[in-house]
Amino acid sequence: RSSIILGAPIQSGTHQPGCVMGPASLRTAGLIASLTALGWRIEDQGDLSIGPQAAVAHANPAVHHLAETRAWIALLAARAEAAAAQSDLPVFLGGDHSMSAGTMAGVAAHAARLGRPLFVLWLDAHPDLHSLDTTESGNLHGTPVAYACGLGDFAAYPPLAHAIDPSRLCMMGIRSVDPAEHRRILEHGIEVHDMRAIDETGVVAPLRAFIDRVKAANGLLHVSFDVDFLDPGIAPAVGTTVPGGATFREAHLIMEYLCDAGVVTSLDLVELNPFLDERGRTASLICDLAASLFGRRVLDRQTRSFA
Ligand code: ARG
Ligand code: MN
Ligand code: MN
Ligand code: MN
Repeated sequence: RSSIILGAPIQSGTHQPGCVMGPASLRTAGLIASLTALGWRIEDQGDLSIGPQAAVAHANPAVHHLAETRAWIALLAARAEAAAAQSDLPVFLGGDHSMSAGTMAGVAAHAARLGRPLFVLWLDAHPDLHSLDTTESGNLHGTPVAYACGLGDFAAYPPLAHAIDPSRLCMMGIRSVDPAEHRRILEHGIEVHDMRAIDETGVVAPLRAFIDRVKAANGLLHVSFDVDFLDPGIAPAVGTTVPGGATFREAHLIMEYLCDAGVVTSLDLVELNPFLDERGRTASLICDLAASLFGRRVLDRQTRSFA
């Protein structure tokens, strides 16, 4: 199996600098060697870049870095669509989460070309369901899900060719929701497993049900992994930490389950801010989680001898 790795050193979607170093930090932690060691054919296409952009204003005065973010989204949509067509499981290295507006638009276009539905597993403390008119912080990393689903005002973003049906989203780890986002969740019946639900059911039951839906529909599955999905105690390198996140064991279990199901067709690893890391521990953890998704296991089930 093959994977194209694409770096997106974008930080225009947040107010805090540092995400620009995310792809370099993931490569430094050994991502390419780890995935190669698992038997995958890896093609690292390096980091993308955009040229200088003239500033664009928006009626919502909080919105900032709109032109730059829009350019990243347009570039990533085209490159993600190509990477999905050319490899089994492209990995998009962020970069702040606004980049997923582009990667999801791209893989949605790819799915439409195949005539198959696209599902999205959103692993994040936040639903990122703002539109340009509802964001209060103006940080555009809060907008990718609404854009990719075609919900709300996005006239200033690139036109969206293929919207994702919000009924095909599954969000896990959610624990910080703004009022406008809450309204969208209710209005569109978006499947949200907040941390309370995960405390009650664990991660496996909702994940298994969602994977069954993807399989039954012969769907593609995009996984968008925001570092702040994890508990800040194990993953400090993110600008938007929220207490009470997923544990090391929950996160690895999700990745192992997804690997066993064999349904994942693209992956975002986003919001890593290496400036906030402690001796590379967050970057190393994200690499290990990616390796679990790509087939690494502590005890290979065939070779277990204690049974
Ligand atoms: N909802 C908040 C906002 O819009 C936080 C967004 C956090 N998003 C992220 N990708 N880290 O500002
Ligand atoms: Mn996010
Ligand atoms: Mn198309
Ligand atoms: Mn988040």
